[in-house]
Amino acid sequence: MLTLSTPFTQQAGVAVPLVGGAMYPCSNPELVAAVSEAGGIGVVQPLSMVYVHGHDLREGLRLIRRLTAKPVGMNVLIERSSRAYEERMRRWLDVALEEGVRFFVTSLGKPRWVVDRVAAGGGGVVYHDVTERKWAERALEGGVHGLIAVNDRAGGHAGPKSAEALMDELGGLGRPVICAGGVGDERAFVAALRLGYAGVQMGTRFIATDECRVHPDFKRRIVAATEQDIVLTERVTGVPLAVIRTPYVERVGTKAGPLARWLLRGRRTKYLMRSIYGMRYVWKLKRAALGGGSSRDYWQAGKSVVGISAVEPAGAIVRRFAEAARRAD
Ligand SMILES: Cc1cc2nc3c(=O)[nH]c(=O)nc-3n(C[C@H](O)[C@H](O)[C@H](O)COP(=O)(O)O)c2cc1C
Repeated sequence: MLTLSTPFTQQAGVAVPLVGGAMYPCSNPELVAAVSEAGGIGVVQPLSMVYVHGHDLREGLRLIRRLTAKPVGMNVLIERSSRAYEERMRRWLDVALEEGVRFFVTSLGKPRWVVDRVAAGGGGVVYHDVTERKWAERALEGGVHGLIAVNDRAGGHAGPKSAEALMDELGGLGRPVICAGGVGDERAFVAALRLGYAGVQMGTRFIATDECRVHPDFKRRIVAATEQDIVLTERVTGVPLAVIRTPYVERVGTKAGPLARWLLRGRRTKYLMRSIYGMRYVWKLKRAALGGGSSRDYWQAGKSVVGISAVEPAGAIVRRFAEAARRAD
């Protein structure tokens, strides 16, 4: 029997070491609440909450509270793109703290200001997304309480390394490490815990759920896709993003154009280019996910599609995975 109690579950105050990862544009409040209510922890993606699902952040958090009294988390994307963006993130973090959120997942950038603000705003736990040891060490200098190891099978922005290699690199740093990427069924969940991970963060699996508000065609594509259908493209955000291969993806290729690549390399222009990508990304992915998409859209999913064979209630997934870990010897 594998124990479900890990340093992560103890810090986050949850029963099952399973995180419903933040997803732009797929995280809606009902999905976040369903993962938490079943014993895992759902993570709010504030851009998705406000710009895709149309909730003011505070109202959205209160809606979640009406659906579950259990802990939820929030994603704080701390990339330096524009001052307006940074200020909005700071405001959102304060709102989340005021509304009782105590678990935060930071991505990109330096997490120190988030750690400090959380400590001053009532306390809580900050986990940082990392793809290799260098970033993990910097995040630990910034005071984070745990790491999310994003591997080469992940949905969203995948890393370059395998789950095994990341455990070797990060396991000895003295903080709990969560596995993000490639877990679509309970067998893979148990395997990640056996590797020594303190928990698993899943994204793609939770898109194919009853509670996720994306278009049914998107869910069907995830259920139908095989691992070989997942490719990494630079053409959406400028860095490798996992998407389902379609005739459109094949036609336009997966590399950023020469001008974009050049601008992304420049010390000053890279922020401009990232903002341009950011705006396109916010709009394009929203249209594809909610509207059923056109033939020129991108469908985000990771290699965990291999373990996904049906659209199910999110809570049933959490409970099935927990049961499989309890039964494992
Ligand atoms: C559609 C989609 C959108 C995502 N958006 C975000 C995001 O906005 N912020 C973030 O930190 N991670 C994001 N991720 C990563 C997930 O939180 C999670 O780490 C990842 O999906 C794990 O890999 P899996 O899809 O194989 O389960 C996204 C993933 C997907 C599939």
